[in-house]
Amino acid sequence: MRTLNVDLGDRSYPIFIGAGIRNQQSLFDDAIQGKQVMVVTNETIAPLYLDALLNILKNDYQVDTCVLPDGEPFKTLDTYQMIMTRLLEARHNRTTTIIALGGGVVGDMAGFAAATYQRGVPFIQVPTTLLSQVDSSVGGKTGVNHPLGKNMIGAFYQPQAVIIDTETLNTLPPRELSAGMAEVIKYGLICDRSMFEWLENNMTALMSLNADLITEAIYLSCVAKSKVVSQDEREGGIRAILNLGHTFGHAIETEMGYGVWLHGEAVAAGSMLALDLSWRMGNLENSDLIRSADLFKAARLPLLPPAEMTLDSFVARMSVDKKVLDGNLRLVLLSELGQAMITSDFPVESFNETILDALEAAM
Ligand code: NAD
Ligand code: GLY
Repeated sequence: MRTLNVDLGDRSYPIFIGAGIRNQQSLFDDAIQGKQVMVVTNETIAPLYLDALLNILKNDYQVDTCVLPDGEPFKTLDTYQMIMTRLLEARHNRTTTIIALGGGVVGDMAGFAAATYQRGVPFIQVPTTLLSQVDSSVGGKTGVNHPLGKNMIGAFYQPQAVIIDTETLNTLPPRELSAGMAEVIKYGLICDRSMFEWLENNMTALMSLNADLITEAIYLSCVAKSKVVSQDEREGGIRAILNLGHTFGHAIETEMGYGVWLHGEAVAAGSMLALDLSWRMGNLENSDLIRSADLFKAARLPLLPPAEMTLDSFVARMSVDKKVLDGNLRLVLLSELGQAMITSDFPVESFNETILDALEAAM
């Protein structure tokens, strides 16, 4: 098992990573503070992993469960209300602990429920997708969507512990594995060149879920994320580098319609656009672009945006007018391979060429 700590003063917490560790009761005992536990999960994950978790906790705690409908469309205030109702019906008090068993959707909602139930109760993240293991379970962003915007209602609220069992990845659909891998590659690109090189050497084995290597990839990702979060918990500045490829990717996701492109797929194509622009600005070598493309390809991720998009649709979705693009849109770009920068100082012509060339290549 690998362990690391997220350093946030009195809100610090451990992250445990290993195969089969969801069955280690002591990890839960150390993080649970009272005698009541509410396990929040969804209807896909419950049949796979809920019973085993209940079995290790039921002798020592009052354990109740809240099984949510599956999917991003259910990441709403209505579903959040279901968690509140379950907690109240089962008479959970201020010392209850919420356990989020699932991917990022469950983790974000259960975390927000924990942040707000009786003004805040402890919670534990047990992430079961690669994306949630390397990204959403770490760093304390919790929340739900509003019809007018994703993640528009929420709180920064840190868990007591993150317990990452790599075995849960064995049941994950392959597209979801690739989508999570986009975020793993992101850490190498933005802040760890040696991790990038390690991923180049190991991507094939990682995609077949070699147990030791996947533990190491998650560990390196959590180290990278926790270092950034420790410096800037509430995203006043540097935490925004975690959004490499996300502004371009968001345009793809929303233009194509929910669920057509997974978030990680859009992040991969979006990262390639950000890297291309960084190259046009003289920050990267052509060989850096080729290496990055090869790595995303090895993770079975798309490199180009959908051909049906246009420069105008990108600009519109990136919430800017072409005339005011320069100076207003802040992008995460690379200053070199393994180092990100946040800037609004990029040539509009280069931005346009990046998009137009990618769309032509996608034809
Ligand atoms: P998800 O939670 O929707 O999970 C993807 C699918 O896989 C779901 O159908 C889920 O039921 C299923 N699943 C989960 N674990 C499984 C397993 N082990 N075996 C089989 N199926 C499994 O998606 P996700 O990619 O984990 O998370 C996306 C969400 O995370 C978005 O809502 C996004 O906004 C959020 N997010 C939050 C942060 C943050 O910092 N809080 C960061 C990134 C993303
Ligand atoms: N996923 C970006 C962040 O946690 O800040």
